[in-house]
Amino acid sequence: MKALVWHGKEDIRCDTVPDPTIEDATDAIIKVTSCAICGSDLHLFHNFMPGMRKGDVMGHEHMGVVVEVGSAVKKLRIGERVVIPFTIICGECEQCRRGFYSVCERTNRNRKLGDTVFGHSTAGLFGYTALTGGYAGGQAEYLRVPFADATHIKVPDNDLTDEQLLFLGDIFPTGWQAAVQCDIQPTDTVAVWGCGPVAQFAIRSALLLGAKQVIAIDNLPDRLSMARAGGAITINFDEESVLDRLQELTQGKGPEKCIDAVGMEAHAARSLDSMLDKAKQMVMLGTDRPHVLREMMYVCRPAGVLSVPGVYGGFLDKIPFGAAMNKGLTIRMGQTHVNRWTPDLLRRIETRQIDPSFVVTHNVPLEQGPQMYKTFRDKSDGCIKVVLKPNGNGRH
Ligand SMILES: NC(=O)c1ccc[n+]([C@@H]2O[C@H](COP(=O)([O-])OP(=O)(O)OC[C@H]3O[C@@H](n4cnc5c(N)ncnc54)[C@H](O)[C@@H]3O)[C@@H](O)[C@H]2O)c1
Ligand SMILES: [Zn+2]
Ligand SMILES: [Zn+2]
Repeated sequence: MKALVWHGKEDIRCDTVPDPTIEDATDAIIKVTSCAICGSDLHLFHNFMPGMRKGDVMGHEHMGVVVEVGSAVKKLRIGERVVIPFTIICGECEQCRRGFYSVCERTNRNRKLGDTVFGHSTAGLFGYTALTGGYAGGQAEYLRVPFADATHIKVPDNDLTDEQLLFLGDIFPTGWQAAVQCDIQPTDTVAVWGCGPVAQFAIRSALLLGAKQVIAIDNLPDRLSMARAGGAITINFDEESVLDRLQELTQGKGPEKCIDAVGMEAHAARSLDSMLDKAKQMVMLGTDRPHVLREMMYVCRPAGVLSVPGVYGGFLDKIPFGAAMNKGLTIRMGQTHVNRWTPDLLRRIETRQIDPSFVVTHNVPLEQGPQMYKTFRDKSDGCIKVVLKPNGNGRH
């Protein structure tokens, strides 16, 4: 089959690889009808996350049709339409039973590695390094789904398009969880750093959850205008001081809730701390560029919440922890517990409360994937979200 394969830093190719097969009785195979490129894939593209191996199949946002099931699979049938969450979950361990799916205790088959690097290993993830199990991803014609009885979201086979449903597997629940973690009150200002796909869902989720106002920050005009269309007030960090504007818009109080939808690859051309982060990352003296976290700790209203869906990989430098501690800030973060939110979010899609397809700017065949990684990385051609079609129906 065709698949997007990692060959090294900034080197992803559309190769022919063996079709996946049922390896365990609990596996299913799906034929992928749509998949997408996520901001988290860019961290792998740039080789900022440890544990990628040459030959790894990329991708963790994917949906399709079940074409094969292992003998122990009870809840899926051939022909069913499913979105597959990026987190591989058993549904039975203590963490899964508590709804903390992204830290499932059974699905990471490289537990030792995870235990060594993070203290405790976390759930297996599709297409996301040896650290999270080294499972093949779904930017491919077919995907093997381990622990298939739990690792799926059944979606109706009706007139809802793939583009309306696909994001249930990652960025929609990620934006939603980011907002839920803020414990939003009707008097709250929620500031969202970034206007990428995750942020777009965080903005709309914060408003659905009743925030008084949402302020979104980025420097890319197309993304800022999509944020405004979603109901946010925007700040272009190239043109205005983020801290001054946030103070102004909150009458000097600071936003009660701050969401970091940027993560480890923040830019801020004119800021000294950000230049230092970049230099250190280039010579391998630092792993992450936490400019956004610093800004959030500084500007957040005392007793506020910092919610961090943005991905970080290692050790963060020059974090004003004293400010965070003395201001009594709560910090909540994590990879998303996807299946915890999807029944509610699917209902919101079905009742037309939200149509997630608004975020798609590019819809192309899988073969154009390698080029699309660059387009998405460079944010060129107005690119906000790329959907890839491995089995036909691509349209631009
Ligand atoms: N927690 C999870 O489960 C989960 C799931 C999906 C994605 N993510 C993470 O969420 C983050 C965003 O993902 P995405 O797909 O939207 O990525 P993206 O790269 O498309 O978006 C990031 C945006 O941040 C903006 N940005 C950069 N520096 C900034 C700054 N200093 N201030 C404000 N904005 C700035 C960029 O211009 C860009 O628009 C990534 O770190 C990704 O890994 C986490
Ligand atoms: Zn993702
Ligand atoms: Zn589990």
